[in-house]
Amino acid sequence: MFERLERMPDDPILGLMAAFRADQSPDKVDLGVGVYRNGRGETPVLEAVRRAERLVLEAQSTKTYVAPAGNAAFTQAMERLAFGASHPALISGRVRTIQGVGGCGALRLGAELIHAAAPHSIVHVSSPTWANHVPLLTGCGLELEPYPYYDPATGGIRSAEMLQALDSLPAGSVVLLHASCHNPTGADLSEEQWREVLAVVQRRRLLPFIDMAYQGLGGGVDADAFAVRLFASELPELLVAVSCSKNFGLYRERAGTLHILTESASRSEAALSHEVRIARRLYSMPPDHGAAIVSRILGDEGLRDLWRRELGDMRERILSLRRELVRQLSAACPSQDFSFIGAQRGMFSLLGVSPERVRALRADHHVYMTEDSRINIAGLSSENLEYFARSVARALA
Ligand code: LMR
Repeated sequence: MFERLERMPDDPILGLMAAFRADQSPDKVDLGVGVYRNGRGETPVLEAVRRAERLVLEAQSTKTYVAPAGNAAFTQAMERLAFGASHPALISGRVRTIQGVGGCGALRLGAELIHAAAPHSIVHVSSPTWANHVPLLTGCGLELEPYPYYDPATGGIRSAEMLQALDSLPAGSVVLLHASCHNPTGADLSEEQWREVLAVVQRRRLLPFIDMAYQGLGGGVDADAFAVRLFASELPELLVAVSCSKNFGLYRERAGTLHILTESASRSEAALSHEVRIARRLYSMPPDHGAAIVSRILGDEGLRDLWRRELGDMRERILSLRRELVRQLSAACPSQDFSFIGAQRGMFSLLGVSPERVRALRADHHVYMTEDSRINIAGLSSENLEYFARSVARALA
């Protein structure tokens, strides 16, 4: 049976992890997969996570099943984190939440729900968008169409073209939006631009599907949820997929949520009942360990404060790396303008060099990034920043 299966090409992001590990050069620099690293290049377990994990293990008396919708303490705590504790959409009971197997699982659950409700839906995604959005969303039969987003000439957003494109969509079209720390560009909508997008969404009766994978790593926990909270106040329907991978550093534990907002509590309950079926059919139930840790942290004032401080340190480190990177690149390549990197937010920016030069950076300088020249800013450090800037200058010469 399996003789027909040819080897698949490596995943464009995960394939880099293996290539980097196999590289024996002492100079190698990993700017590939989006994982936070500290100044020593490590991705340590957060102290808040360590403490919460101990409490979880001490208190846990059983390993019996949780439920297809996941750990209720976790999903409710995540609602408060995403929407704000006293958001009217929460108080009215219009938000229902299912735990995902990480943020990816939450995105897939959202896609499956859209497919169940309207199988011919087209999901409109930013150009460019995160590479894995494509298989995650098309895997259940939905079609994708790009809308204009990133302007490589300025490092900003083509907002007039974006709004015009959204304004020509038929009612019911789905628009995937990145809440903050846009992956792969780092170019985020301003509050004013979010309001403009909202006006188009209302006028055209579109369904926004917001991917919030970096809450707290851009402008702060509340600032990064601005669009989620605004849209939830003004719209009848909204889907939000949230990941705990980066902001809690829980990558391998696969904790995330899909929040469903509809016009009424009973419709949201009906939508959730479909999700429960979908989850049962796909994997039955999500893992609990990461969810139990997050609910411990968010349910305890001391742990929550500690987590917020640790998250703030990660955010500040990325911001200072951005400033230092602009300085070093400007010194190494004086004829090029890299100031856009300082204005962008989150883990990623696109360097704006060709795939040939990306390959040369890897082959000649052991610097790893995805082919679109996306760099994980958090992979830089005082140890490798100068070397990286010099390598870019050589590759561009
Ligand atoms: C990334 O974009 O590098 C991360 O979100 C990790 C992944 O799964 O692709």
